[in-house]
Amino acid sequence: MGREAVAGELMAHLARRDPGPGRPVAVVVGPPGAGKTALVLRAAHGVREHFPDGQVFVDLHPADSLPVPPDVLVRRVVRSLGGAPAAEHPEESRAQLRNALSTRRVLVVLDNVDSEAQVRPLLVDDGRSAVLVAARRELSALPERFSRRIGALEEADALGALTDLVGADRTGAERPAALSIVRSCAGLPLAVHIAGLWLTARPHRRLRDLADRLADERDRLAVLRIGDLSVHAGVTAYLRLLPPPLRTAIRELARSPEDFGIPEIPARVTPSPWPPADLLEELLHRQLIHPVPAARQDRTRYRLYDAVRLHAAEAARRAPARTP
Ligand SMILES: Nc1ncnc2c1ncn2[C@@H]1O[C@H](COP(=O)(O)OP(=O)(O)OP(=O)(O)O)[C@@H](O)[C@H]1O
Ligand SMILES: [Mg+2]
Repeated sequence: MGREAVAGELMAHLARRDPGPGRPVAVVVGPPGAGKTALVLRAAHGVREHFPDGQVFVDLHPADSLPVPPDVLVRRVVRSLGGAPAAEHPEESRAQLRNALSTRRVLVVLDNVDSEAQVRPLLVDDGRSAVLVAARRELSALPERFSRRIGALEEADALGALTDLVGADRTGAERPAALSIVRSCAGLPLAVHIAGLWLTARPHRRLRDLADRLADERDRLAVLRIGDLSVHAGVTAYLRLLPPPLRTAIRELARSPEDFGIPEIPARVTPSPWPPADLLEELLHRQLIHPVPAARQDRTRYRLYDAVRLHAAEAARRAPARTP
């Protein structure tokens, strides 16, 4: 399973008993399919006795729909909390919400948050309630938030997640193939989960069969989909939020699997929509790249998340070649 430490930190923060300015807002941020929703649900479950008046869950940007506007969110939370019907006028419904959150102990869980504006109406000074957010980008403008970034699982946890799904007899009998699968999945929970379901649906197949199919990067995203779960769709949900120049920059970076830093940006992204350092910040905030752990301290290096790179490389293969 993994993520015990970060789940524990989130729960400890939400259970704080010292209300006052900045009453807990906890944010989980990470790349597509990293396990943000699973983590906030787990943390919410773990603190349920601290919020005796209930928990409200709202998905702010469901797949294939438009984002929920802040005032629709406000009315929806007011309705979920019961009592008087939600007022039509935005100022009135916001006042109703502030009143409800400051007089009760409620945990509001917001999933698929794209911007600070979606969270702000729920921030109540001196409130007894708290807000737990799963976000697709850093919400840097939220005051006094408690934020945790998640990415890949540790290899042992990824292997454990695969074993939970397919059984210890199968992963034990083919350990090198099991390792190769979790490495091809780059430890991404969604990818490991789909790989596990692929194998569970095919009890007669060897793990090596899947390991070999995943070894070819060009084929990997096509294999990593089952039913309505797909790594490709998860990345698409992030990329559709981006301004077009940023999407183009990602496509250009995806032409090579090499890591990069500020010095390489001018050659690899032409023209860069922002100065190189700003471009890297933007990509980092939006959970599309991650720092390379082994890099020397004085030279921060980055990589696109594997799933993002493969998605962008696929799009580049379909697009006309760039003229030199
Ligand atoms: N710690 C974990 N161990 C094993 N599997 C996990 C873990 N966390 C999440 N998963 C699985 O990975 C998949 C993706 O998780 P989840 O939907 O929480 O990711 P997400 O970051 O919210 O994705 P998205 O970016 O699409 O919103 C789910 O099928 C979930 O069961
Ligand atoms: Mg999610």
